Amino acid sequence: MEENKQLLEIASKAAKYAYAPYSDFKVGAALLTDDGLVFTGCNIENASYGLCNCAERTAVFKAVSEAKTNFKKIAVAVEDINKTVYPCGACLQVLAEFMYDGSVIISRNGVPEEIKVKDMLPYNFTLGEKNE
Ligand code: THU
Repeated sequence: MEENKQLLEIASKAAKYAYAPYSDFKVGAALLTDDGLVFTGCNIENASYGLCNCAERTAVFKAVSEAKTNFKKIAVAVEDINKTVYPCGACLQVLAEFMYDGSVIISRNGVPEEIKVKDMLPYNFTLGEKNE
């Protein structure tokens, strides 16, 4: 699907802006809202390592801070678009909050693959409600 390819390319470009002097591992994300906007994100590290923020969460927090809370898809990539990266568990929990029915686009040898957030994290934390 052309849309997924485009999102992966945007994510890969966003990885260039990553601030990752400690891991030297640059990640980018491209988040598609229900109303067709795209918010990008990159990982932002800190000398206090535990404060590092992943690319996916940067994209989600940018969007939510601009009043967007309904998302369809998020693409995740590194600068070499042929490499595969998946969201970490912490990011999946944040994605589950806003887009449990949405999907993650990853690159498999440059080919976009779409995976549902609920398939990646079927047992996300909730305050006791069901996630259906
Ligand atoms: N990272 C992300 O940006 N997204 C993920 O889903 C996992 C990891 C970042 C965090 C850190 O800056 C670097 O990759 C190495 O772990």
